[in-house]
Parts: sequence; structure tokens; C-alpha cells
Amino acid sequence: MTNDIKEVLLSEEQIAKVVKKIAEEISRDYKDKNPLIISVLKGSFVFMADLVRQIKIPCAIDFMSISSYGKGTKTSGEVKINKDLDTKIENRHLIVVEDILDSGLTLSYILDMFKARGPASVKLCTLLDKPDRRKIPVKIDYNGFTIPDEFVVGYGLDYDEKYRNLPYIGILKPEIYSAK
Ligand code: IMP
Ligand code: MG
Repeated sequence: MTNDIKEVLLSEEQIAKVVKKIAEEISRDYKDKNPLIISVLKGSFVFMADLVRQIKIPCAIDFMSISSYGKGTKTSGEVKINKDLDTKIENRHLIVVEDILDSGLTLSYILDMFKARGPASVKLCTLLDKPDRRKIPVKIDYNGFTIPDEFVVGYGLDYDEKYRNLPYIGILKPEIYSAK
């Protein structure tokens, strides 16, 4: 598995430091607000688990599972909801947790859907931002790292459902996905 990685982009230590910093900001900004923290599966599950354990205020969590219709390393923005939220989000303060913001198509779709349900507020927290590939502008409230236009895997992120279990974030060798 590690043979498919061209280069480690972000180490476990670098990630842990940033996750802690974001959690501190959230703990400060949402004191007494009991936010609902929403993980968009599957990519954000590792980040979510580390993040909530560093958040020091009361909060609730929920999950939404979607799949994008896009194939390979690109998304079309059209998403299919596999599992919707369990929680009623009307008048709740939402923090949407994503692994990576790429074209912005998936996220803007989800954010619009949440906003239509009448929450008190919606903020976006993403571990990685790849601004070079943005097609739709999306405002990020909490961002871990801004990264170059490379396809990355690990720490929850996959290629073809593989590599999610790597503890760091690595750049995938292009021959792995261009061979398909
Ligand atoms: P967007 O709609 O293009 O912003 O798509 C974001 C989604 O595409 C993420 O939630 C990931 O699932 C996937 N994605 C985008 N870039 C990468 C990458 O470099 N590695 C792994 N998945 C990625
Ligand atoms: Mg994802």
C-alpha cells in the first residue's frame, strides 16, 4: 500500500497539531451553543473522530452519507444521499466537517440542502483545501491545510476505496490512477 505513495504531504504530527488548533477555535466560538457537528462520510470519518475528541464544549454529532456520481479522481457535483441526518437541524448551529474541498460542487450542494432546513447557523470545517480546482466559490470557516493540485490519500481519503487507513496524508503516484 505505501509503495503507491509518491510522497508524504502531511505527517501524523502535522495533522494532529492542526486538528487541535481547529478544535480550540471551535470550543471558543461555540461555547454555550451546543453545536451539531456533521461529518460527511466517508472521507471525513478519521478527521471527525480526532476533531471531536479535542473539542472541550458540549456538542452533538451526526453523519450524512453521500456518494458523488463522478468517477475516478473528479466529481460531477451531483450527489446521491445514502444516509440522511438523524437530527432535526432547525434552529441548530451546524458545523459541517469535510475531508477536502476540491471543486466545491459536492459541498455547495450539501450546504444549500442544509440551509433550506432552517438551521440557526452553518459553518464549514475542512481539513484540506485545494483552491486551484475550485469551480464554485465556497466559504471555509475552519481550514486545516491549503494544498497543491495533487491527488492525495490517507487519513480517511481514498482512491477507489483504498488507502483510507493510512495515518498520514500522501500524494498518490499518478500511475496508480492514470492506469485505469
Ligand atoms: P468536490 O465536490 O470536487 O469539492 O469534491 C470533494 C470530494 O471529492 C471530497 O469529499 C473527496 O471525497 C473527493 N476528493 C477530491 N479531491 C480528492 C483527493 O485529492 N483525494 C481524495 N479524494 C478527493
Ligand atoms: Mg468525501
